Amino acid sequence: MTVGWTELAVVVPLEWHELVAETLALTPFSSVAFGGEVPGASAPAPGSDWVRAYVIESDDTPELRRAVGDSLAALADATGAEELRGLTLQFRTLPPEDYANAWRKSWRPMRVANFAIVPRDWNGTLKPTDRRMVLEPGGAFGTGRHPTTRACLRAIERLARPGQRVLDAGCGNGVLGVACALRGVEHALGFDIDPTAVPYANELAEWNAVTSRCEFRAGAFECLRADERNFDGVLANIYADLIQAFSPELSARLRPGGWFVFSGCHRSHRAPTVAAITAAGLSIELLDARGQWDTFVGTKR
Ligand SMILES: C[S@@+](CC[C@H](N)C(=O)[O-])C[C@H]1O[C@@H](n2cnc3c(N)ncnc32)[C@H](O)[C@@H]1O
Repeated sequence: MTVGWTELAVVVPLEWHELVAETLALTPFSSVAFGGEVPGASAPAPGSDWVRAYVIESDDTPELRRAVGDSLAALADATGAEELRGLTLQFRTLPPEDYANAWRKSWRPMRVANFAIVPRDWNGTLKPTDRRMVLEPGGAFGTGRHPTTRACLRAIERLARPGQRVLDAGCGNGVLGVACALRGVEHALGFDIDPTAVPYANELAEWNAVTSRCEFRAGAFECLRADERNFDGVLANIYADLIQAFSPELSARLRPGGWFVFSGCHRSHRAPTVAAITAAGLSIELLDARGQWDTFVGTKR
């Protein structure tokens, strides 16, 4: 018996892709993808792109469509993002063979600084200035689309250099460590309290052929040895309370003059987070504020 699929496609500003994808990744949708083209629809305006979700046709009911609209309205309420209100949802029936690969065929690289993020088997042409980074976009999480991850990637482009050693606290799927390795750092060490993150991070390093320069560990700071210090750069894309708590430890692991990138701070927590970073002996040289999220970039005094 053949199974038909329905694709839901919605144009979303890039900085909201990850949250919209998370919202759409709920049952009964089986997967979420980004970009591509929707037949009959005009190309999204710059700064926006398609988020697509797939559901077995028999699960595509009026109730489901209503629930999707309600979930996106709730997301707009929760975030206060006016641009998430009144999004146009486009549903279309796909022939079964289209489902798994339709988005791959028409994928366009997502660019953050010089990183051009593409799926594993993408064979399109990149610009000469692009730095290819493989990041599987078929799942909803760790796609490099969250505004905080994007801010960290922009900073990595400027700060990570060949020969450096960098530390990434809360590495998740390893995107930041792998990006540093693609910029040429000698060693990127990431750790994450979520043990399921490490296999993903190792796989990402493998896809990008930087395994020999990346190391990922499960755990919190206790998984670092006492002599693992004098890093040239430290990264932490975690929530404000953790940035505040970790700043002294991260600063202690950084060499004088080394760089830091801390992100994931909701703007409502800016003042205490700036105070904690500064008190830890770190000078903030750039506050990259995007929407609700603050990213702090600077050096150790
Ligand atoms: C927002 S994600 C960032 C993932 C990735 N670095 C990125 O930029 O996309 C934050 C990560 O921090 C991890 N985390 C939270 N608390 C932690 C802790 N105390 N020690 C280590 N990792 C932690 C979470 O498991 C999660 O994977």
